[in-house]
Amino acid sequence: MLNRIIGTGSALPARVLSNAELASRVATSDEWITTRTGIRQRHIAAAEESTSDLALRACRQALEMAGKTPQDIDLIIVATSTPDMVFPSTACILQDKLGAKGGAAFDVQAVCSGFVYALGIADAMMRAGTVRHALVVGAEVFSRILDWNDRGTCVLFGDGAGAVVLARDAERGILSTHLHADGSHRDILCVPGQIDSGAVRGSPFVHMEGNAVFKFAVRVLAEVAEEALRANDLPQAAIDWLIPHQANIRIIEATAKKLELPMNRVVLTVAQHGNTSAASIPLALDQAVRDGRVQPGQRVMLVGVGGGFTWGSVLIKW
Ligand code: UT7
Repeated sequence: MLNRIIGTGSALPARVLSNAELASRVATSDEWITTRTGIRQRHIAAAEESTSDLALRACRQALEMAGKTPQDIDLIIVATSTPDMVFPSTACILQDKLGAKGGAAFDVQAVCSGFVYALGIADAMMRAGTVRHALVVGAEVFSRILDWNDRGTCVLFGDGAGAVVLARDAERGILSTHLHADGSHRDILCVPGQIDSGAVRGSPFVHMEGNAVFKFAVRVLAEVAEEALRANDLPQAAIDWLIPHQANIRIIEATAKKLELPMNRVVLTVAQHGNTSAASIPLALDQAVRDGRVQPGQRVMLVGVGGGFTWGSVLIKW
């Protein structure tokens, strides 16, 4: 038995922040952001809009497509680095907002690889036989942890959520998952601050050494896709759709080149969404499913990389 994605959904805040508007606030330009990253705009959550609110909207869409109700779900995993609160988990808050009860619910913290990690964990739990239907979500409000005076980071990120419903299937579904981490690189992408006795100790903003992150991402995204192909005894040409983490068009192009994959087989949302961290892969997947690009029987390769450093792939027979 395999575990198949039977529904997808997504949610974006209404507020769109263009490169031009950003350029009126910090020393940047539409030209710099577009040529260096491919990003043209990003969505920014309203003050009262939380990660669980975005996750809820995405989950309702995914459940509708799947033809399932919240009561059918016995596992909820939310991948996020911007949880609603320190605890309880955003997954528990989401479970309550969905009107579900009783199933397992927890968050996964693997930054931009979070959705790939969460899918890997859900797949393993379902293979163990204890879970019949799972909701796997990537949801973020990264705008809350950005220093809006730091042009090196504030132009890159956005808010959003994507969700999938998983069910058992005899023929199609997740073929393999490969998850990795190397904590020795933890300092090149981090939010070092912590809550200590009622105060924030250390910076509560995203710190990134862009060049180091760029090089690392290009290397491991291609490597982990190759690892998945080897494990399934498939050639590079077997990938119908590559759905990579959407951080920077140049990282995605370099990855596709290494995999000898034409760009018309790569799903891109980076121009419209920016980097939405754990939400970026499920947002892109939902778009490609809803517009009919992803078809039954095709092979879809999800690859993620993020702070930790963490990286991973999920290969799916759709
Ligand atoms: O989700 C995973 C995490 N994130 C990523 O994967 C992002 C990985 N890194 C990147 O995407 C790229 O490294 C960046 C887009 C962050 C930066 O692009 P780059 O081509 O590596 O530029 P750079 O950092 O080498 O900076 C080039 C110049 C610098 O000026 P000087 O020192 O050459 O005078 C920066 O100060 O561009 C300057 N710069 C900017 N200029 C205008 C940096 N940010 C901006 C900006 N607008 N927003």
